[in-house]
Amino acid sequence: MIFIKRILPRNINNNYVKWMNDPEVVRYTEQRYKKHTISEIRKYVSVINKSKNEFLYGIFIKKNKFHIGNIKLGPIDFFHKTAEIGYIIGEKDYWGKGITKLAIREVIKIAKKKKIKKLISGCYESHKSSIRLFQKCGFIKEGKLRSHYVYQNKRISFLLYAKHI
Ligand SMILES: CC(C)(COP(=O)(O)OP(=O)(O)OC[C@H]1O[C@@H](n2cnc3c(N)ncnc32)[C@H](O)[C@@H]1OP(=O)(O)O)[C@@H](O)C(=O)NCCC(=O)NCCS
Repeated sequence: MIFIKRILPRNINNNYVKWMNDPEVVRYTEQRYKKHTISEIRKYVSVINKSKNEFLYGIFIKKNKFHIGNIKLGPIDFFHKTAEIGYIIGEKDYWGKGITKLAIREVIKIAKKKKIKKLISGCYESHKSSIRLFQKCGFIKEGKLRSHYVYQNKRISFLLYAKHI
């Protein structure tokens, strides 16, 4: 159904900018306070593509190569063999179809090739679909940063999830 591939400059288009400026898409992320532009996204991708410990992949639908979101591996700590992961499905028609689970599975394969032993991620405590996703992918809740972020004028906690691979 999907494949993932390193993001190239030609994958950065107005659709990608639209996701990043959609309040519903970014509401549980730290991107929600910013107005995103194509030039700022280009700069972000070019910096990340030069990095040795961060890898940004686009998530594409196999049958038409439609770019629907991104998944990031990194920062990687090669000494401790740990890495963060983060993901965004910008095309909302593709939410709730189990696609992020498939993308995480692909990233796990890549992480294993890089000898990573443990993945970490997290989400706001109110982000139900992300919590469910972590559970479905076998991530375990390993911590909680209490009252860590402001969300809709309230202080909320951040949940840390991890998976040994
Ligand atoms: C969060 C996100 C990645 C989920 O990806 P997805 O591919 O839609 O995930 P799934 O299809 O596996 O669905 C997630 C699960 O959450 C469940 N879910 C969705 N909304 C829910 C809610 N309000 N309460 C409880 N469960 C919910 C779904 O039913 C599904 O579980 P199921 O397979 O047991 O039915 C996607 O919505 C997204 O990219 N959102 C915007 C960006 C973002 O928030 N990124 C993550 C920052 S931490």
